[in-house]
Amino acid sequence: MSFDRKIKIAPSILSADFANFGAEIRAIEDQGADWVHVDVMDGHFVPNLTFGPPAVKAFRPHVKTFMDVHLMIAPVDPYIEAYAEAGADMITAHVEAGPHIHRTVQAIKAQGVKAGVAVNPGTPLESIEHVLDLVDMVLIMTVNPGFGGQKFIHSGVEKTRRCREMIGDREIHIQIDGGVTTETAPLVAAAGADALVAGSAVFKGGSVDQAQVYGDNIRAIRAAAEAAQ
Ligand code: DX5
Ligand code: ZN
Repeated sequence: MSFDRKIKIAPSILSADFANFGAEIRAIEDQGADWVHVDVMDGHFVPNLTFGPPAVKAFRPHVKTFMDVHLMIAPVDPYIEAYAEAGADMITAHVEAGPHIHRTVQAIKAQGVKAGVAVNPGTPLESIEHVLDLVDMVLIMTVNPGFGGQKFIHSGVEKTRRCREMIGDREIHIQIDGGVTTETAPLVAAAGADALVAGSAVFKGGSVDQAQVYGDNIRAIRAAAEAAQ
């Protein structure tokens, strides 16, 4: 993947039909998704449980674009190798998930995959300043992680602007996750974000049999973001 700051829409399959992941992934990719965002939750770091490495491995053959794996787990280091082997193209870990984010990012890079670092809404950007030279992406959470369909937290817009300033010339994506809609996407795109995760806003109203709805939703979010960029 060569670097650019074009808007990338990354539907979160947390909002997909859990009995039909292969078809759901094919449907969102056919309808224009740039990345497939996989939300991994452990019932400890966040109050919900989702996908272990075998599930992610089962998604892999269906993903033709880029599999973006967001680990909301603590500890995270013991599981990095398993998620890399499951086929992640990028692994994002939370700075809040342990005391050694630098070591965590090194462990991700050692697997030969791209590395992201995520910050929760209450966590200052200073916490990631010293790993910026190592990462491919900063994920700014605009909801408290754990569930889809939550309301966008607006302090993430100013945080995005400051993150973009901190990044300077470095080839680092800024991803926004949580409450992204046609209303909020322009705010974060204008502030410097280029990768937008959207769960409910992509899947709402559609299904694998009504996949054009996914396409309409993806195009609407992309258009709103690009107009603001
Ligand atoms: C939240 C997850 C998100 C979530 C986004 O913990 O990391 O990826 O699924 O869902 P929406 O877009 O519905 O806020
Ligand atoms: Zn996520």
